[in-house]
Amino acid sequence: MAAVALPQSRRSGIDPFYVMEVMRAAEEREVAGGEVLHLEVGQPSTPAPAGVIRAARNALENDVLGYTTAAGLEPLRRRIAEHYRSWYGAEVDPERVIVTFGASGAFVLAFLAAFDAGDRVVVPTPGYPCYRNALQALNAEVVTLPTSAETRFQPSPSLLEDLCRRTGSVDGLVLASPSNPSGTMLDRPALAAVADWCAAHGVRLVSDEIYHGITFGDPAPTALSLNDDALVVNSFSKYFSMTGWRLGWLIAPPDLVEPVRRLAQNFFISAPTLSQIAAVAAFDCHDELQANVARYAVNRSVLLDGLPAAGIDRLAPSDGAFYVYAAVDHLAADSQDLCRRWLDELGVAVTPGIDFDPAEGHRYARFSYAAATDDMAEAMRRLQQWGG
Ligand SMILES: Cc1ncc(COP(=O)(O)O)c(C=O)c1O
Repeated sequence: MAAVALPQSRRSGIDPFYVMEVMRAAEEREVAGGEVLHLEVGQPSTPAPAGVIRAARNALENDVLGYTTAAGLEPLRRRIAEHYRSWYGAEVDPERVIVTFGASGAFVLAFLAAFDAGDRVVVPTPGYPCYRNALQALNAEVVTLPTSAETRFQPSPSLLEDLCRRTGSVDGLVLASPSNPSGTMLDRPALAAVADWCAAHGVRLVSDEIYHGITFGDPAPTALSLNDDALVVNSFSKYFSMTGWRLGWLIAPPDLVEPVRRLAQNFFISAPTLSQIAAVAAFDCHDELQANVARYAVNRSVLLDGLPAAGIDRLAPSDGAFYVYAAVDHLAADSQDLCRRWLDELGVAVTPGIDFDPAEGHRYARFSYAAATDDMAEAMRRLQQWGG
């Protein structure tokens, strides 16, 4: 009997997140007894702060850990609102805070609430690949905005204006500052200019602020204070060093609070309860977290000195996050091949740029400096001695 073709959605063809594949290759090498210096991982090498772990132990022993309301526990939403007051001087009603399954869960809610199938949403490249892939899976039209070293790998009103002139009007913009992979940041006037451009053109801004707290000059400004209609996404994954706790948040503009809550009820019921209870303590752990940032700052200097000494000297200014995005096209035509060789020959794992920029990424590689300082120094030594 002929096999009946069962339905499969077009979105099942979603692109992989290639960095995961680099991580798998590095893991295979380790399982086979090889050593790996991890400059590919986009996550802190430290555990959650001690206060969070204590609170989680206590909750495990004393709490039922059932579902919470879809928006999240009230004490956590209140602490998040307070965080905006103390860090940014911004007032936010805790009712507008929705606690989510990481920033990743916040994007799903933000995109579903803000955009319909066919809406045109601008995604700058190089950028975090999951925006593009998630939007495509939701049948939005992704409008790529190429950025370059000349624009510090960030969008600007003139780039957006030019894009609209060439391709037509748009409905949304997703940006990240500091950005993954470039680490570049929009300062307050630059972010205000983009936020104002969005307001003037009826474009819904989604601001990914997941790397706030990990900056090496001025602190990063929040879009919350600059555009009343923006959706602001953040997470406990990076500054708070809690990737596996899968907890983030979304600040919804007033008109989208109820839609986001209803979407959250239907898609997720609630974010992980143990993580929510424990995360309240994260806001009392800034000393420990600042020590992590101080280590990233040292690691950053190791790379900013070490990469040029290895002949890799076209580097994006790494204002924040824990990444250096570097042009490597003088070493290989395709950075995927280069990264494979570095892993095989040097035991140094680095992420090729293709994840972040399908068009130009083959010319770039992303070096993460979230791991131990000694590992960074040793990786630089090996790259400097590498014959190519
Ligand atoms: C820019 C950016 N946004 C979002 C995420 C995902 O965050 P979460 O772990 O909170 O889902 C990442 C993870 O690397 C990221 O780099």
